[in-house]
Amino acid sequence: MSQMKHIDNIPSTPGKFKMEKSPYNRLRLHSSLAKLTFWSFVFLGLIFVFFFRSPSSSSPESLTADPSRRSLRTSSYGGPDWEKRIKASAKVRSRNGMSVLVTGAAGFVGTHVSAALKRRGDGVLGLDNFNDYYDQSLKRARQALLERSGVYIVEGDINDVALLKKLFDIVQFTHVMHLAAQAGVRYAMENPSSYVHSNIAGLVSVLEVCKSVNPQPAIVWASSSSVYGLNTKVPFSEKDRTDNPASLYAATKKAGEEIAHTYNHIYGLSLTGLRFFTVYGPWGRPDMAYFFFTKDILKGKAIQIFEAANHGTVARDFTYIDDIVKGCLAALDTAEKSTGSGGKKKGPAQLRVYNLGNTSPVPVLDLVSILERLLKVKAKRTIMKLPRNGDVQFTHANISLAQRELGYKPTTDLQTGLKKFVRWYLSYYGNGKKSSQ
Ligand SMILES: *[C@@H]1O[C@H](CO)[C@@H](O)[C@H](O)[C@H]1NC(C)=O
Repeated sequence: MSQMKHIDNIPSTPGKFKMEKSPYNRLRLHSSLAKLTFWSFVFLGLIFVFFFRSPSSSSPESLTADPSRRSLRTSSYGGPDWEKRIKASAKVRSRNGMSVLVTGAAGFVGTHVSAALKRRGDGVLGLDNFNDYYDQSLKRARQALLERSGVYIVEGDINDVALLKKLFDIVQFTHVMHLAAQAGVRYAMENPSSYVHSNIAGLVSVLEVCKSVNPQPAIVWASSSSVYGLNTKVPFSEKDRTDNPASLYAATKKAGEEIAHTYNHIYGLSLTGLRFFTVYGPWGRPDMAYFFFTKDILKGKAIQIFEAANHGTVARDFTYIDDIVKGCLAALDTAEKSTGSGGKKKGPAQLRVYNLGNTSPVPVLDLVSILERLLKVKAKRTIMKLPRNGDVQFTHANISLAQRELGYKPTTDLQTGLKKFVRWYLSYYGNGKKSSQ
């Protein structure tokens, strides 16, 4: 990122004045019209310099790299109103409550976790870059939902270290719930660098800031069940090997777990990684099968169902969002304090990793049958061979560790959870018009 910093530092105008030095322009300057033009340029140039230079020099930490966020410079980044909104959002309202920075707050899990924390009186500040990996209007709708419950989302990138530092200047976060990530398994073949950018560089950027602030926050972050990769031993347990990932996504999440280890080891950061198993529910991600199956079944479009070799069943340990949220909150509640200060480790700190699944894998064919019943529409199925480009044949979580240490106990089966999803889907997309609920 830093090599792109110069983009914002290029003075926006000097080049424009070169033109009057050419003989052609020197001649033209003799006419008054040309003089007028010349001074207009100078004037416009000064306005340009004033507007584009002054905000970035008064807040040099802003917007170091990403040109797509340019518009934010004048709108939502910086200023006393902005800080006031941040403080109000992060204000703790319950006794012994925590103040949590939630990255990826406009995402599926991020929205639900932020709302749940706010509901019980914790301070919550969201951070999200609202990228266009999937329908941005869904992210905006989630943002509106959070706004109504008093959670403000700062628009920015986790790779923007200066922004993160600024947020920690404004609020002494006790916890960071780091959910921002590039998700999806097959998209990695289209855009591999976005996985490295968000899941590796972004994580490092978050941890760099967390280790350097005083006091250091405790961090809970989203790993993934995909780290179990091509493992065949079921159910997947935290002690199993995770060194044969089947996708770049999985590899970056696995890298994240190793990076977490080093920040815990070197700086005394308290770190908890949560391996989510196929999370679904209302406000979910449109790139996931249960979501686009619903969409396609309703449209009468054929859906592709994967099967493994020898007609083997493809199954997923679908986990309902409310169960995941409980697991996330329990992880935050049981997180011990980080031990470092001044960027230095002072003693050993907590390092944990947990499966958050549902312990009952469901074949994708059963998922389709449940959706057909709920939607009252017959699906047009096309059975396809599972391509070897990221998806694994099955996932199945052993959750006994999370049960023991977090009190995690999922209570929603796929049937019940999908019913809630479908009800939400129909009210949100039904009759082609988006309802705000
Ligand atoms: C689940 O994991 C625990 C360790 O957390 C282990 O003791 C137990 O044997 C595992 N259960 C199964 C069925 O593999």
